[in-house]
Amino acid sequence: AREAVARRVDALVRLVPDYPEPGVLFRDITPLLADGPAFGDVIASLAGAAPGGVDLVAGMEARGFLLAAPVAAHLGAGVLPVRKAGKLPGPTASASYSLEYGQASIEIHPTTVPDGARVLVIDDVLATGGTAAATVELLQSCGAHVVGLAFLVEIAGLAGRSRLGGLPIDTVLTVD
Ligand code: PRP
Repeated sequence: AREAVARRVDALVRLVPDYPEPGVLFRDITPLLADGPAFGDVIASLAGAAPGGVDLVAGMEARGFLLAAPVAAHLGAGVLPVRKAGKLPGPTASASYSLEYGQASIEIHPTTVPDGARVLVIDDVLATGGTAAATVELLQSCGAHVVGLAFLVEIAGLAGRSRLGGLPIDTVLTVD
């Protein structure tokens, strides 16, 4: 069944060369989001990455939101938006990370993370792992227990997994 979901994801994620800049291969998940049965299977699959139960599902802006919220509802957990800098009114906790050119930061409202809360982290793509590593660091600095991460697509060749400190990682589809 997992194999079938992976094949469906592979067929429904559109590859867009040279977007948003030359040399980048963009993975457009909108055809997958628009396919009800496939979307439902993906949410169920991502939700299965949380053995032992979770209190919160964290999703990274913006595409991570689209997956984290239904996974949270599926699990009966809360959802935690991990936002790009400047979007939350505060007080915020933040973490910075390097992009190919320059720096970025992400923020959360730490008051929504009870001490020791069990958190599952969800995003659409694991590429270099910069976003996911910063998210884990931020959540842990707020006292969360990150129980694992789940991604729709992992680009194995970029070795993002190696930046996640051995935490359990589940991916629906792995590509080179
Ligand atoms: C993409 C993707 C992940 C991140 C993965 O987000 O949705 O969050 O990049 O890359 P990394 O593993 O190299 O950090 P993007 O910053 O494009 O934001 P968006 O979802 O708002 O388009």
